[in-house]
Amino acid sequence: MSDVCTSRALTTPGATVLENREIARGTFLLRVDAPEIARRILPGQFVMVRGPGEGSDDPLLGRPFALYEVRRDASGEPVSLDVVYLVIGRGTAALSRRRPGDRVDVWGPLGNGFGPSPGPGEAVFVAGGIGQTPFLALGREWLGQASHGDQPRETGTPVSAATLLYGVRSADLLAGVDDMRRAGIAVEIATDDGSAGRPGFVTNLLEERLRSGEKPAKVVACGPPPMLAAVARLAREHDVPCDVSLENHMACGFGACFSCVAPIVQDDGRPDLRRVCVEGPVFPADRVDWSKPSH
Ligand code: FES
Repeated sequence: MSDVCTSRALTTPGATVLENREIARGTFLLRVDAPEIARRILPGQFVMVRGPGEGSDDPLLGRPFALYEVRRDASGEPVSLDVVYLVIGRGTAALSRRRPGDRVDVWGPLGNGFGPSPGPGEAVFVAGGIGQTPFLALGREWLGQASHGDQPRETGTPVSAATLLYGVRSADLLAGVDDMRRAGIAVEIATDDGSAGRPGFVTNLLEERLRSGEKPAKVVACGPPPMLAAVARLAREHDVPCDVSLENHMACGFGACFSCVAPIVQDDGRPDLRRVCVEGPVFPADRVDWSKPSH
């Protein structure tokens, strides 16, 4: 498979699907043969994946998926990449029907990704819904177990521990918990219906930790906007650094369509609309104007 270089990202047309299996209710792990993208991509960056047309224009649009993890061969060379996605519309439904050996178009890496590890303290990740997907690669990197990308960059000091606070509606939607634990990331679960972990909002788990006096080196959150706003408020109240990864709707993924904009506070204190696909998806939580609806 040859990768074609575009202005910022690589495009792998007709990348081979190596695996596409349901790992939780309506939640699939897709592994694609895109070694050049796998070599470059960083935790928090994403790829666009476009499946087959299947007689409709809509699935021809790409869908943005955060890096779940890079797969490597025995010598450590990146050979493929994994994303985890939830079936929520025609495009992802069409993608879920792809089988090993089928082809998809993949382009990326896109977006800014997470910053350097904030160690030596603890990192706390907060995920809601399908928002857990960026935290496997990030946790492995911040724990010092893996490095990503092929360019020199500041990697920071490894964290002493990483914990994922993971909230879903019900236990059958939990995806990747074993992968996280195998990577040394502690996982605490909250479910809306109490079918696993603690009943209630995942933000309650964070609030208890912060109220008990815990002072993580950083909190990082990914999930629905109300959860992100609550995490941002808690981090601000407890004076803990916090980044959020926004999941805005995206059409092009490379800055051309402005479908993904979010209100981001600028240096002069005023919010301005910024493209999440180019300037994000990761932003300091105190730079997002939570008073204005995003997408
Ligand atoms: Fe098109 Fe961001 S998705 S500009």
